Amino acid sequence: MKLKQVLNNLLKCKSPQELIDEGSNSGLKKTLTVFDLIVLGIGAVVGTGIFTIIGSAIAGSSDGAGAGSAVVISMILAAVASVFSALSYSEIAAMMPVAGSAYAYTYATMGEFMAWMVGWILMLEYAIGDITVASAWTGYFVQFLKGFKHILPAFVVNFPMWLRNDYRTMYEFCNKYGLDVHDKMPFINLPFDISIPVALNLPAMAIVIILTILLVKGVKESTKVATIMVGVNMFIILSFIVVGAFYVKPENWTPFAPNGLEGIFTGAFVIFFAYIGFDAISTAAEETKNPQRDLPIAIMGTLAICTILYVCVALVLTGVVPLGAIDTQAPLAHAMRFVGINWYAGLISVGALCALTSVLLIYQLGTTRILYAMSRDSFLPKSLNKIHEKFKTPHIMTWIAGIIVVVCALFMDLNISAELCNFGTFTSFIIICVAVLILRKTEPDRERPFKVPFCPWFPILGILTCAGLMYCKFSAKATSALYFIIWLLIGVAIYAGYSYKSKRLEENIEQIQ
Ligand code: ALA
Repeated sequence: MKLKQVLNNLLKCKSPQELIDEGSNSGLKKTLTVFDLIVLGIGAVVGTGIFTIIGSAIAGSSDGAGAGSAVVISMILAAVASVFSALSYSEIAAMMPVAGSAYAYTYATMGEFMAWMVGWILMLEYAIGDITVASAWTGYFVQFLKGFKHILPAFVVNFPMWLRNDYRTMYEFCNKYGLDVHDKMPFINLPFDISIPVALNLPAMAIVIILTILLVKGVKESTKVATIMVGVNMFIILSFIVVGAFYVKPENWTPFAPNGLEGIFTGAFVIFFAYIGFDAISTAAEETKNPQRDLPIAIMGTLAICTILYVCVALVLTGVVPLGAIDTQAPLAHAMRFVGINWYAGLISVGALCALTSVLLIYQLGTTRILYAMSRDSFLPKSLNKIHEKFKTPHIMTWIAGIIVVVCALFMDLNISAELCNFGTFTSFIIICVAVLILRKTEPDRERPFKVPFCPWFPILGILTCAGLMYCKFSAKATSALYFIIWLLIGVAIYAGYSYKSKRLEENIEQIQ
């Protein structure tokens, strides 16, 4: 009996109507047009993936083989994995235009436990994704400083490696070049002969803290600011394609796939990070003028624009720089330096810093928004939702989100955090496809302004492609796969230890009232 009761609780759903009512009564102004949504989408999507991670997808890392020029195929594969989920997002977002995105949709279809887990997994996408973007930010910041080497003192331009890298990167670097870590990092000596090495990704930590302070103060990324950022991004990327095209040497494209299928699939898993973010469009559903029509157009439009741009960038980059010389920290800026246009490399660094800052801001806001929704639903202590008296922002949540990122940035490098973020996003994409299938059964008559074509086959293909790419990484026994499992177990433990009881307490209070 008790077990049955627990199971019932785990499966308790919010009704779709309840969600829709919450959304339409939220009081948010409905001002966004399809153009605004695409700007928001591109602002959230174009960032580290194309400015940094493309380097590891091409050249490989200690955790997997690179795709070489075949990264173009990896990109198309990643786009295919995204497109089925994008269609599924479009169907549900148009049907239930509410702010909570995947977390809310799961609550309406799979119940309380899965909703908690999806919220927890979304933290991987947003908070851990933030670490990736912050690490990439450091790479371009260093390149940017180098552009001023004639003006700035040498200790600023070439500040020590241990002040701009995490532990993992420092150890990997020393291993790779046969260096002694004691020469590259300072050690703090403690009693009992214990000595602790020191490595801090200082620029990454600083930008996260600055953005956290801004968010606490209530900085609203108005679509105007986003439009300017996206304008700069697009200009830099398009000009890279046009200028770079003049320096392409087709012989650099051979061998096309130096590590065969393994490289292509590993590359697809890694470069998937570049596509993450279009789901952020669905979080603006409650502020959209005509969500039923505009959300699907914006989601699919963003994905199409980004795929075309990415494929062109990949072709130019691999055509300009030979495989062995691809840089993994700031590959686009390096490519321009490689062909001798140093000033243009500086310009790319500025564009990249703009792009990465806008992604960081959207992701930090996303982390806070999800934590906020989860604590409003009593999964986390409600006291964390306290609003700042003066700034009217959820300041405690904002600081928690910022501190999580700062602490994790000490231990995680760009590749591990990107892969972990990908695991989280693949899982939420799978859940969205499953949610479409469930809602077609449980709510067959609800109005669907947009429908995934060829249902159930497209959602099933979405599930299979995402699961397939995750499987490739699992079977390679990557470190990120282990971290992912640990993350899930921590999520289950918090639910069992706190959230489950907190939900029951909330129910009891509601009954008494
Ligand atoms: N797609 C986003 C980026 O590449 C997360 O930075």
